[in-house]
Amino acid sequence: MRIIRVRLAKRSYDIVVAKNAMGFLARYIRKLNIGESAYVITNNLIKRRCSSRLIRALQEAGLDFKIKIIPDTERSKSIPVLSSVINDLAKFDRKRRTFIIALGGGVVGDLSGLAASIYKRGIPYLQIPTTLLAQVDSAIGGKTALDLKEGKNLIGAFYQPRLVLSDVSLLKTLDQRQLRSGLAEVIKYGIIKDSSLFAYLEKEYKNILKAKPDVLEHVVAVSSRIKAGIVQADEREEKGLRTILNFGHSVGHAIEAASGFNRYTHGEAVGLGMLVALEISSRLRFISSLFESRVENLIKATGLPTLISGIALKDIMRAFYRDKKFCGSQNRMVLTRGLGRPEIVRDLPIALIETAITKRIISLD
Ligand SMILES: NC(=O)c1ccc[n+]([C@@H]2O[C@H](COP(=O)([O-])OP(=O)(O)OC[C@H]3O[C@@H](n4cnc5c(N)ncnc54)[C@H](O)[C@@H]3O)[C@@H](O)[C@H]2O)c1
Ligand SMILES: [Zn+2]
Repeated sequence: MRIIRVRLAKRSYDIVVAKNAMGFLARYIRKLNIGESAYVITNNLIKRRCSSRLIRALQEAGLDFKIKIIPDTERSKSIPVLSSVINDLAKFDRKRRTFIIALGGGVVGDLSGLAASIYKRGIPYLQIPTTLLAQVDSAIGGKTALDLKEGKNLIGAFYQPRLVLSDVSLLKTLDQRQLRSGLAEVIKYGIIKDSSLFAYLEKEYKNILKAKPDVLEHVVAVSSRIKAGIVQADEREEKGLRTILNFGHSVGHAIEAASGFNRYTHGEAVGLGMLVALEISSRLRFISSLFESRVENLIKATGLPTLISGIALKDIMRAFYRDKKFCGSQNRMVLTRGLGRPEIVRDLPIALIETAITKRIISLD
């Protein structure tokens, strides 16, 4: 078991990473003294796969609880679903102090965090992430969000959880595609911050895809520590330090948006975005072709897509311009000068970005 403390003064909290982390839940709830009634938000699939030990832990802690089911789709990050959750929560929240538990991936986590931040001007919430992506990324850091039809994550708040409980044994029911998508974010951490993590991934990626608990515990703990460190240094993304987490993301988001958010998972799009960022870094002579191939080989070996199909360059570029990471009229991208050496670059020539993306597009003719 590993415990990582996110140090944010009064908003500090632990991330517990273990094969049987759920076994620690009851003790944590008592210690945190956050309430007697748990309002659990999840979806049907996750309830079937992951809720039995949670229910046991809540019973063991002597808590009242209710499980609220939301639809299993990104569209749950919407005002109608938020409104249904808040109305139902208000009915459940009668006498005893209520807190929220987000049991799920990033969708459940983002929605639950926002509901917790606004109900009664803020009630405590816990993250129990059930996807690799959520354990290494979305459950940590307090960014909560809903989508609008104008774009993803346009509504949100910074609101830190009181605990992140990452039970890696929950990941064994995750399908390969979801595991791979989370792995893309772990590769990102290796590139921006940690050469030994990167080397570990080169050796162990197959065991991650087989959901081997020891290997998962290691990568989730190391990734959580990296994310926690960045969040501590720049909680609200005001100092530009959190920006390096966007490595692979500006083009990644553009690929997701241009394909209507249903062709590639977030992690797959980030994998493609990282390849584009590498190509640009290489053309600017920030990195050698040897380094570029080393990273490309790992991404390829994991089975993440390395080519973009069915999306036109002009649609990707249109989405790229609309991205909120685009500062005014200047574009801004995170590039790399090697493992642990990210570099934020502004105002790149558009032709350079287009050439790097085009290299990845499968031509239809
Ligand atoms: N708040 C942040 O900082 C942050 C960071 C990154 C991503 N996000 C958001 O996270 C979302 C993506 O999260 P995600 O990749 O976890 O997707 P997701 O929440 O949609 O989960 C992916 C799929 O896996 C299923 N699933 C979850 N746990 C499972 C388990 N243990 N076994 C089997 N199936 C399981 C889900 O039901 C879903 O079908 C996006 O909305 C993105 O915007 C937020
Ligand atoms: Zn991401």
